[in-house]
Amino acid sequence: MKLKKIGLTNFRNYGDLELEFDKNIICFTGLNGQGKTNIAEAVSVLGLLTSFRTGSYSEMIRFGEEGFFIKGEFFNSSGRDIEVVISYDGNIKKIMYQNKRITRFSEMWGKIPVVYLIPDESIITTGPPAARRDFCDRLISLTDSEYLQILNEYNSVIKQKNKVLSEMKAGISQSSELIAIYNSKIASAGSGIYIKRTEFIKNFLPYFVEIFDFISDGLYAGNIIYETIMDEKDYEKSLSVTLREQKIQEIKRGISVIGPHKDDLDFMINGRSLRKFGSKGQHKLFLVALKLAGTEYIKSVTDEYPIFVLDDLYSEIDEHKSLKVAKILDKDIQTFITTSNSRIIDQLDQNVSQLFRVDNGNCTAVF
Ligand SMILES: Nc1ncnc2c1ncn2[C@@H]1O[C@H](COP(=O)(O)OP(=O)(O)O)[C@@H](O)[C@H]1O
Ligand SMILES: [Mg+2]
Repeated sequence: MKLKKIGLTNFRNYGDLELEFDKNIICFTGLNGQGKTNIAEAVSVLGLLTSFRTGSYSEMIRFGEEGFFIKGEFFNSSGRDIEVVISYDGNIKKIMYQNKRITRFSEMWGKIPVVYLIPDESIITTGPPAARRDFCDRLISLTDSEYLQILNEYNSVIKQKNKVLSEMKAGISQSSELIAIYNSKIASAGSGIYIKRTEFIKNFLPYFVEIFDFISDGLYAGNIIYETIMDEKDYEKSLSVTLREQKIQEIKRGISVIGPHKDDLDFMINGRSLRKFGSKGQHKLFLVALKLAGTEYIKSVTDEYPIFVLDDLYSEIDEHKSLKVAKILDKDIQTFITTSNSRIIDQLDQNVSQLFRVDNGNCTAVF
């Protein structure tokens, strides 16, 4: 997937901006606070409909304005043009895909795949299990709309069950049968999630292992292990039994604690837990490899490389590693890079790159 034109109106610190792209590497450089990440954000909002910085469209409206408008003209690997227009008037989101109004995010999910690597994502390797589940859930959803559906269904049952559990804990209600109904839904949707997650890991892992080996100069062997307290031979049965056994416990705690929303991914480096023993540099490298492997995974399933957004290049990787990353991205993956480090200019090959200088909401082409 490639973005060939983007238009922003009253988006973040841009009044009116229109840029055209005809190369694979598109780099934005400039001092901090000038609007580089804002452009990267707009690119990913066009593809994913959500921002990597905020859950609120209002924050993206230019200060003092009433709404924003962004437009992207893409083309995919079969040469088909795709137009996405998103407008927000401070009240209503209007998303147009090929001139057709999209009313649910899921209708467009995965149509314009975008993989991003942004500074605060270190949470994926260092943070709580939820961050790792989210990483894996997002990648699967991008290529499998059925998964998104099961996941939404599952989350909505957990939410309903939590409400009842907290009422039971407070002694407001006595809905024991309701819990049994929720538990049976949790067991079936939950095992569906487990099956798709483990299938994903099986397919994703070879890409990850190869890339991690390559960018670490052969130093690190990576591995990812799905971690659950369930019996993996029959996840559904085990989940169902555990839910029954832990029912009283869950009521006591007033919250649902059994199911794949508690599973984790164990990231391993040279046979040891990254989270427990990894250095800062190893964490960063692991994350970079995870993201790069994501692009290969998406390509393997959809036959389309995603757009890659690399915000703040040198905050994640040093120059030597960034050359290796560039080698991986060289396979016709359109990549948007932001960096305040002007040394990037010497590293860019003008035949395949475009460089823009960003200065206080103005963006001008250097080459
Ligand atoms: N909604 C908004 N309206 C106008 N300006 C904004 C808005 N949100 C952020 N900004 C401005 O954008 C700038 C930061 O842009 P950013 O893209 O993060 O910078 P950087 O070039 O460091 O990546 C700041 O000056 C900030 O005040
Ligand atoms: Mg930035």
